Amino acid sequence: MAKRKGITVSRQIMDSQLLYPEATGELTGLLNELIVAGKIISAEVNMAGLADILGQSGKTNIQGEDVQKLDVFANQTIKRRMEQCGYICVMASEEEEGIIPVLDGYEGKYTVAFDPLDGSSNIDVNVSIGTIFSVHRRISTGKQGTAEDLLQKGSRQVAAGYIIYGSSTVMVYTTGDGVHGFTLDPSVGEFFLSHPDIKIPEVSQYYSVNEAYTNYWFDATRNYIDYVKEIDPDSGRPLSLRYIGSLVADFHRNLIKGGIFLYARDRKSTDKPEGKLRLLYEAAPLAMVVEQAGGRAITDDGRRILDIEPTSLHQRVPLIIGSKKDVDLAEEFFTGDKS
Ligand code: AHG
Ligand code: MN
Ligand code: MN
Repeated sequence: MAKRKGITVSRQIMDSQLLYPEATGELTGLLNELIVAGKIISAEVNMAGLADILGQSGKTNIQGEDVQKLDVFANQTIKRRMEQCGYICVMASEEEEGIIPVLDGYEGKYTVAFDPLDGSSNIDVNVSIGTIFSVHRRISTGKQGTAEDLLQKGSRQVAAGYIIYGSSTVMVYTTGDGVHGFTLDPSVGEFFLSHPDIKIPEVSQYYSVNEAYTNYWFDATRNYIDYVKEIDPDSGRPLSLRYIGSLVADFHRNLIKGGIFLYARDRKSTDKPEGKLRLLYEAAPLAMVVEQAGGRAITDDGRRILDIEPTSLHQRVPLIIGSKKDVDLAEEFFTGDKS
């Protein structure tokens, strides 16, 4: 269906649903609930800098509730909307160790895994942060959902995306039919289509990696990063470095402008042998978005992120994600064809 700039996100989701006569509207309902959660979090993020000035931080707000840290607030907001929306049977959050049940009697046919506020170390300094989400269809048949419903590989996601709270609030999502970006107009409280059918440029302008870890890197990372920094204007090198430290913000820039993001394994931390990023609610949803936009997402040993069978909720995974040709080339360095 032709994408008309300016249509609302709810309308767009509804239009996509109409393409599937068997659709019941539950996925549409679920995405709409996530959108409402995103608007609430966006409003709170925009107020964050004022909280201290207004004397609320650490005290109680006008409703008599304790003012929470933003990542806790974001987690509660999404949980509360999800647990009684009737469209999901179980959820998982970066902020909670175990699976999160829904209210009794509200079990639906989907599951959601989310990072309520990615990049939360950047909250205090006005740097972009975001909410990442991943939706699967449930597979268990009992009344309540189980961990098994959440531990499905990324290629089985029915929807994935993020809401980034930056200079504007932007929602980017896919239901397997391309990638669409919507910008929140805060004056009317609606997301309007601003980025129809996003395609990631095939070739990077940017590389995103935490270069402070150079001395922890294995040879593959070092050799690849040395390569992208070589001077060769005919092939567009050196790439420029951009690293925000919010995955969602680094990813969003690279999606729009062309770029590659790497968080590979290194020697830094023995308690994180798989790198830092989480499969279920960071790597897998962004991998679905990037593939739908024509890019690629792999591990540092060349496995497709979307093919990984998860074994635990908070499992970490090495991640190389971005423009197709750049990930292809990185793969050659990481899997040994180039060194
Ligand atoms: P979160 O704020 O949800 O815990 O995630 C932080 C992550 C991710 O957003 C970012 O890409 C990465 O941490 C940065 O890690 P380094 O500081 O090690 O580079
Ligand atoms: Mn995160
Ligand atoms: Mn987080």
